[in-house]
Amino acid sequence: MRIAIVTGASSGLGRAYARELDKADGLDELWLIARREERLIELSGSLDHPCRILPLDLTKKESMETLEALLKAEKPRVRVLVSCAGFGKFGRAEDLSPQETRDMVDLNCRAAVEVTGLCIPYLRRGSRVLEVCSCAAFQPLPGLNLYAATKAFLLSYTRSLGEELKGRGVKVTAVCPFWIKTEFMAVARDTANPQAVKHTPFAMRPEAVAAWSLTMNDLGAALTTCGPIPAVMRLGSKVIPSAAAMKLWDKLRKL
Ligand SMILES: NC(=O)c1ccc[n+]([C@@H]2O[C@H](COP(=O)([O-])OP(=O)(O)OC[C@H]3O[C@@H](n4cnc5c(N)ncnc54)[C@H](OP(=O)(O)O)[C@@H]3O)[C@@H](O)[C@H]2O)c1
Repeated sequence: MRIAIVTGASSGLGRAYARELDKADGLDELWLIARREERLIELSGSLDHPCRILPLDLTKKESMETLEALLKAEKPRVRVLVSCAGFGKFGRAEDLSPQETRDMVDLNCRAAVEVTGLCIPYLRRGSRVLEVCSCAAFQPLPGLNLYAATKAFLLSYTRSLGEELKGRGVKVTAVCPFWIKTEFMAVARDTANPQAVKHTPFAMRPEAVAAWSLTMNDLGAALTTCGPIPAVMRLGSKVIPSAAAMKLWDKLRKL
């Protein structure tokens, strides 16, 4: 059985990936993962491929055990893995509760790495892996500190993973977009310091980010920014010292 797995499929970018993959040939099933089961059921009803609904909270160990057991039982060929589940919280380190801190590191870092690790034995030549990072990964961002740090972690992991899996013919891409119009902002503002980042301008459509990044992955890109602004940020991070970049960001986030 040839499958695509999408985490974070109940909303925003993950849902857009599921819809885009539904157009692809060569897949027998889509496995959709997120906590909100009713959203996944609704999405599967609009897709042509048979879907496996996996209502899992990826911050929980039991969820990983469920996924591991399912993979062992079905022994699928994972043709596409899109690791998209993630969230951010606006605010400085001191503004975040211990629970928010734990959950963000757990989901954005540990869960992404663990789901990927569970899938690696089921990847074959031609399989594709997309890890949704962010342009926040390119430099430290005070006021969005922990989120940027989790994405820097995931970016580093993804770049090495791409090298490690090259010999097996697996294409791995770190997806590093700018703001996207999803439920991300509502979640990010639901904190003690929602105004730490005042505006999120030039947000892209999730459909455009999903389609672009899948194309870039197909072309073998190790990293895609999905737009000109994060491309400039990426280049800037190579030449502008972090201290200067943080000063600039500190002004921009208060505008
Ligand atoms: N929006 C942006 O501006 C932006 C920019 C760059 C990168 N990104 C990245 O893009 C990815 C997708 O975010 P989005 O913008 O599409 O936001 P979103 O609309 O809020 O979607 C987040 C997804 O993650 C899932 N999720 C959250 N907590 C989970 C948990 N504990 N277990 C399993 N799934 C969980 C959510 O599903 P449930 O709530 O149903 O569990 C939802 O499907 C994230 O990794 C984000 O960091 C977003």
